[in-house]
Amino acid sequence: MRRLLALLLLATPLAAEEPPGLAAWDRIYAVASHPRCTNCHVGPQEEPMWNGLGYGTDQRHGMNVRADETRIGAESVPCRTCHVTSGRPNVRPHAAPQILEAWRLPPVELAWLGASSADLCGQLRDPERNDGHDLESFVAHLEASPFVAWGFDPGGGREPAPGSLADLVADVRAWGAAGMPCR
Ligand code: HEC
Ligand code: HEC
Repeated sequence: MRRLLALLLLATPLAAEEPPGLAAWDRIYAVASHPRCTNCHVGPQEEPMWNGLGYGTDQRHGMNVRADETRIGAESVPCRTCHVTSGRPNVRPHAAPQILEAWRLPPVELAWLGASSADLCGQLRDPERNDGHDLESFVAHLEASPFVAWGFDPGGGREPAPGSLADLVADVRAWGAAGMPCR
């Protein structure tokens, strides 16, 4: 059905200029560039971000939190001091989010805070720069990651990443099937 729709769309001259997969990529980018994801995917800077929480743009984590090379703050105040590992729901606004996984920053290579659509697309389709993921392991990560799940259901009055995890997985598959086009 989806393929049939795509063929019908391709029959119109305007849509014919648009390679399939680009709309899926746009939606993937809308998720990945959302603060619920980029507040952690920050790169070599030591502080996580507090964007989209009502403190304005480019807001670094308060209280002098440093992730350092360990990414869990082992050299100063560990993340787990406040972000306890717990399956209890996040309900209180502005409380430290808690999930059933050690709260931490990703490795520096997985940075994309502030990346343009074209830059992030190039990064995610390049196994050299995406932690060695091919399409299937990329999908497997998204489906299994407690961080990604939290991003879609952060609680505590936080704005979730747009769409759902199922939408994201479907879009990643569609983008992959179309040859991972970028713009
Ligand atoms: C609390 C911090 C945190 C948040 C929030 C977070 N991540 Fe991550 N992310 C990580 C860590 C840590 C890793 C490294 C893998 C691991 O340890 O699970 C990772 C790895 C990844 C990877 C694997 C890299 C790759 O190219 O396959 C992707 C993709 C990813 N995250 C996407 C997201 C998306 C999308 C969101 C938002 C919905 C998100 N992350 C939110 C911490 C976070
Ligand atoms: C002293 C307590 C404390 C420590 C230590 C701490 N945090 Fe936080 N963190 C908080 C609080 C409180 C919030 C919620 C801020 C708000 O919503 O106003 C928060 C929010 C965050 C957010 C934003 C989540 C969102 O909603 O987008 C990220 C990312 C984050 N912390 C990462 C870390 C990492 C990584 C570490 C360890 C290197 C860490 N934090 C250590 C208290 C702490």
